[in-house]
Amino acid sequence: MDAHTRLGNALRGLPVDRPPVWFMRQAGRYLPEYRKVREGRTFLDMCRDSDVACEVTIQPVDRFATDAAIVFSDILTIPEAMGIEVTFEAGEGPKLHNPLRTAADVDALRRPDVADALPVVPETLRKFRAQRPETPILGFAGAPFTLLCYMVEGGGSKDWIETKKMLLSEPARAHRVLDLLADVVGDYLQLQVDSGAAGVQIFDTWAGILAPDEWQAFCLPSIQRALARVKGAPRIHYTRDNMPFLHLLKQTGADVIGLDWRVDVARARAELGTLPIQGNLDPIALFGPAESIRRKVHAICDAAGPVGHVFNLGHGVTPKTPIEGVEAMIAAVKERASTSAR
Ligand code: CP3
Repeated sequence: MDAHTRLGNALRGLPVDRPPVWFMRQAGRYLPEYRKVREGRTFLDMCRDSDVACEVTIQPVDRFATDAAIVFSDILTIPEAMGIEVTFEAGEGPKLHNPLRTAADVDALRRPDVADALPVVPETLRKFRAQRPETPILGFAGAPFTLLCYMVEGGGSKDWIETKKMLLSEPARAHRVLDLLADVVGDYLQLQVDSGAAGVQIFDTWAGILAPDEWQAFCLPSIQRALARVKGAPRIHYTRDNMPFLHLLKQTGADVIGLDWRVDVARARAELGTLPIQGNLDPIALFGPAESIRRKVHAICDAAGPVGHVFNLGHGVTPKTPIEGVEAMIAAVKERASTSAR
């Protein structure tokens, strides 16, 4: 079975010879070849150059023969296209220099035409498809709520007080921004499908900071609104800390649900039925011995069952991850070709 069929079938809940495998942040600093390209450039420089983005997108595909690539970029290119100045300070993560704090800040946001304002990812998708036609490539965007978090807070945060203050004191303002973001995110995902993405993933990294009633009020409608604009390829929804919301995730309208590593896969299956799932090895498990990685991979695949499962980590691979851990994970998933045929 070729990788296009394997990934496409798994994302649609159709039979496969074994689960396809790719992993979040697979192009990144744990790879010496990535660090080499990164030398003398900022991360955002790399995101702005489709030749460089394509080169690093290819790196993990060539090294590990993953069943999919994910286009190299960042979720914060959308806020940038809307008028927020974004930089990455070494060791500190992203910084957004004009955060949304007042009504005037919100009024100043632009509604970009995504094809004009965000041309690099569609270009990278086309270049990748020309250079590695045998491997499917996924597109992505941040979910409206996660983007709102960064845009209001001005960077990462432990408790997201400014964001929660907006939800509590100015809910109409928050909804206005979320609606605008949902439309831009939806259009951007559709642009990626139209540029040849085999599927798209929406990253709602920070949705898990909300209580369930707030999640239903702020996250759910904006995800539904964004995903409703996307046709023609499977849409994957990923949230960190999604255990408390498992029973609600069907309502997002996503075709595939990403699971973080704290979710019990058998329980997710029970909640989600035949809805395809993606995940969910703990990224830190890759620091353990190969035999432990192998056991964990097989346990996840056994619990997920042979149909409707895309193997992935439960969150992005971390910069200090040993390459041998990644190799052990990929090899174990590929062993499923014989076990699932039994
Ligand atoms: O999965 C992939 O390989 C696709 C590319 C991708 C990146 N970031 C590359 C990246 C994707 C899908 C993202 C998503 C992203 N970016 C999220 C949501 C998913 C998640 O991981 O929770 C968030 C919250 C961001 C914002 C962001 N970008 C953060 C918090 C950081 C870490 C900052 C740091 O210094 O560690 C980034 C940087 C980033 N994004 C890197 C990569 C490869 C590292 C860049 C570098 O310094 O070389």
